[in-house]
Amino acid sequence: MLSQIWTALSLFVVAASLRAADARELSRQDIHARQLEAAKRWHSTRSSPAKRAAPKNITFSNPKASQFYVDGRSIPEVDFDVGPSWSGLMPISGNPKETRKLFFWFFPPGPDGRRMEAQDAHPLRSGARSMQPFSWSWGQAKPTVNDFSWTNLANVLWVEQPVGTGYSQGTPNIKNEDELAAQLVGFMQQFLEVFSELKNKNLYMSGESFAGTMLPYTANYIYQHPKELDLKLKGIWIADPSLSWNVVQEQIPAVNFVHRYEHVFAFNQTFLAQLDALSKKCNYAGYMDKHVTYPPKNGLLPLPGKSTTADRGCDVWNMIFNEALRINPAFNVYRIFDTYPILWDVLGFPGSFEQVQVAPVYFDRADVKKAIHAPANVTWSVCSPINVFPRGDSSLPPALTVLPSVIEKNIRTVIVHGLADFRLLAEG
Ligand SMILES: *[C@@H]1O[C@H](CO)[C@@H](O)[C@H](O)[C@H]1NC(C)=O
Ligand SMILES: *[C@@H]1O[C@H](CO)[C@@H](O)[C@H](O)[C@H]1NC(C)=O
Ligand SMILES: *[C@@H]1O[C@H](CO)[C@@H](O)[C@H](O)[C@H]1NC(C)=O
Repeated sequence: MLSQIWTALSLFVVAASLRAADARELSRQDIHARQLEAAKRWHSTRSSPAKRAAPKNITFSNPKASQFYVDGRSIPEVDFDVGPSWSGLMPISGNPKETRKLFFWFFPPGPDGRRMEAQDAHPLRSGARSMQPFSWSWGQAKPTVNDFSWTNLANVLWVEQPVGTGYSQGTPNIKNEDELAAQLVGFMQQFLEVFSELKNKNLYMSGESFAGTMLPYTANYIYQHPKELDLKLKGIWIADPSLSWNVVQEQIPAVNFVHRYEHVFAFNQTFLAQLDALSKKCNYAGYMDKHVTYPPKNGLLPLPGKSTTADRGCDVWNMIFNEALRINPAFNVYRIFDTYPILWDVLGFPGSFEQVQVAPVYFDRADVKKAIHAPANVTWSVCSPINVFPRGDSSLPPALTVLPSVIEKNIRTVIVHGLADFRLLAEG
């Protein structure tokens, strides 16, 4: 009896290893057939583009609008109709001699849409990734239909700003976030003079990263200058925002973050012990437990040391970043789980470094610039080589200034933060 069980078991084991050998010897044709079948299954579980309502073409009464019109079938590499949109350069003021212009791309809403949204910061980046009618993510050979485009529900205006970024024209001259806001609002008002059917709509502004600083200041500016913009500001939505001092958003939570993802960083015990010791010495350890209480104990949170970035010998963020790159050269500071291969990127960023796997990047191609009325004489890159604040930005982080009152005045404020982001940390 016992031996029969053993026989049965060993037979089972043999059968299993035979199956494994079979799988190893699948022919290339078999593999392709299975891939095709999987691709078909994937397609049938998604709403097919054919079933989507055809994009509506709308007209604007101002004849100037037509010079910005983009035919949704004419966007390079996009082999489906994304519907009508409008893009190009718009000045930041009504002055006929104005040399400063920002680039925008405007999409009207699908059949259910009604709101006015404005999106900024790295609009072409986030737009091409996830919010436009087409999406072209890391490693994708071609763009695909984005069933979850924000444009399904709302008018969406992507703006490259401030002056000095992307395709924008003119020389940057701003000194702080209020001046940045004034220029962005000036641009939006010029946009509304052409696309005047959009006047008086509700406005929600969204953006990520440094937009976390720019948008609270812009919202504050709009609330303080209600007559300058013919839109009704209702709220802001900021993702992985830069809101506070670097020491708060990067240094204080960095070592905690490493412990949470110890198996991802794979540091040795000696290095971990060194980090723990520094974290203690620099007053990062236990900071959150001690100070982050509601209601706050003593008003504004204290700095852990003297510096708003990092005291000498306390830059644990950089130590972690360098060591993470040494162990995993594909370490992506915006998504720590990445490993080789580094996926090619149609925009060349974001990652730990700008990529050069494809040149020119999509928005620097002559055919793309032509299709969206972008200036041919600008070299486009995600991160501007030009300093948009030529003499620095004198504004304090918004969490210390305008953000609280903006949250009070907004109907809705959304602040979200990705947990895999080590550039700015959710806990900070
Ligand atoms: C859509 O409308 C614009 C004017 O706003 C016009 O130039 C264009 O030809 C129209 N496109 C289609 C496909 O009807
Ligand atoms: C641990 O990592 C540190 C930092 O890279 C290195 O200098 C050290 O030699 C390593 N120690 C051991 C025991 O591997
Ligand atoms: C670049 O082109 C724009 C028009 O597309 C023009 O207004 C601008 O003067 C040009 N700039 C330079 C430096 O040639």
